[in-house]
Amino acid sequence: MKKVDVLLGLQWGDEGKGKVVDVLTPQYGVVARFQGGPNAGHTLEFEGKKFVLRSIPSGIFQGGKVNVIGNGVVLNPALFKEEVDALEKSGHPLYDRLKISKKAHLIMPTHCLLDQAYETAKGKGKIGTTGKGIGPTYTDKISRNGLRVGDILNNFEEKYNVAKAKHLELLKNYNLEYNLEELESEWFAGVETLKKFEFIDSEHYINDALKNKTTVLAEGAQGTMLDVDFGSYPFVTSSNTVCAGSCTGLGVAPKNIGEVFGIFKAYCTRVGSGPFPTELFDKDGERLREKGHEFGSVTGRPRRCGWVDLVALRYAIMVNGVTQLFMMKADVLDEFETIKACVAYKMADGEIEYMPYDLEEVVEPIYVELPGWQCDLTKVQSENEFPEELNAYLDFLEDELQVPITLVSVGPDRAQTIFRHQED
Ligand code: GDP
Ligand code: IMO
Ligand code: MG
Repeated sequence: MKKVDVLLGLQWGDEGKGKVVDVLTPQYGVVARFQGGPNAGHTLEFEGKKFVLRSIPSGIFQGGKVNVIGNGVVLNPALFKEEVDALEKSGHPLYDRLKISKKAHLIMPTHCLLDQAYETAKGKGKIGTTGKGIGPTYTDKISRNGLRVGDILNNFEEKYNVAKAKHLELLKNYNLEYNLEELESEWFAGVETLKKFEFIDSEHYINDALKNKTTVLAEGAQGTMLDVDFGSYPFVTSSNTVCAGSCTGLGVAPKNIGEVFGIFKAYCTRVGSGPFPTELFDKDGERLREKGHEFGSVTGRPRRCGWVDLVALRYAIMVNGVTQLFMMKADVLDEFETIKACVAYKMADGEIEYMPYDLEEVVEPIYVELPGWQCDLTKVQSENEFPEELNAYLDFLEDELQVPITLVSVGPDRAQTIFRHQED
């Protein structure tokens, strides 16, 4: 029996999960998404080409592997169709390799409208959602009003209309203008595309694969600090992005989880509202945004940038049981004379090294400052070529976090990936 390895974000998303899933895919038989939906934007680059995936797992580009959209995912057929069409056009047919859980919930056009309406109503307190209907869809799932992929096979229109009527009733309370007909026609065209794929009982599929000694990689979306339970609530997404989410989102028993790959940027970013203790408002923040191209891969929104936060990372490592760390975007720090890392928070009544109930109460981050390497990492081919200062930074992080950093990413391309601590 094999185990499921899980790869997930430890910060506020956009850590580079898509890139690394693609890099690791040759080692696995199946790649599966377990939560989130098209709020995700996972970027991959190889051979001069760039792809951004939203709902489709990042394991579709290497070696004809099977990819699964698990029951914990929420799926918008209209956006799914766009993604499928674009991939087909670029010579990546999916029909025989991508399988979809019957239990995954469907994002309806009215869910997207409700997302917009709720955000507008929140005014200044808005979450800054991606507007993809994520919150309303998970709300319907939990309140047992949801529509699932499996419903497409049976009495679908009637079920759709019942759910839609409920949403239209709710929308009457808001002043939102919309053209539902247009949205619905795209959506139903998407449903036709969906029907061309195999709908599966993904919990059986994944467990059978494990029994047959097939390796499975679970691909997280968003990041731990956006988890609905452990993130900076209420400025979070509506799913469990943590490792436990892979158990419920795929139907895998906790004892069958193997490695937990925790991925983080060598600095930190956040999109949308909510607390961010190490956020920079000065020219260092601007430098990180420019050098790191920190603009949303789906929305194009500028990402807020700051120094790496080890208090938050220690917390994320704890709740996920991280066994290996992957550090991304090291090259973005190439030109910095010094690099800062937050090791504690100053609160109104003293310093703490753990995650407080409310991150808004952090008065200021306490930093340790390290020398930068000030050289170009993007062409580095192996760990032996790392500058001394980078090795010192990695040693410092491993000491603080007590988990080995086994991968360092030095550029967006698949090839710009350096493995560390590998046994021969
Ligand atoms: P994800 O949502 O976690 O998959 O990450 P995104 O794709 O939203 O954002 C990560 C961005 O950083 C993408 O534009 C990647 O192409 C890029 N990227 C990934 N790794 C590296 C790296 O090591 N260096 C640089 N410069 N860019 C990277
Ligand atoms: P990937 O998988 C970064 C953020 C939104 C907002 C909050 C809630 O690419 O890392 P939602 O639409 O989920 O209700 O928005 O979560 N958010 C992300 N930020 N990366 C993501 O995904 C995100 N998915 C959602 O900006 O603050
Ligand atoms: Mg992203």
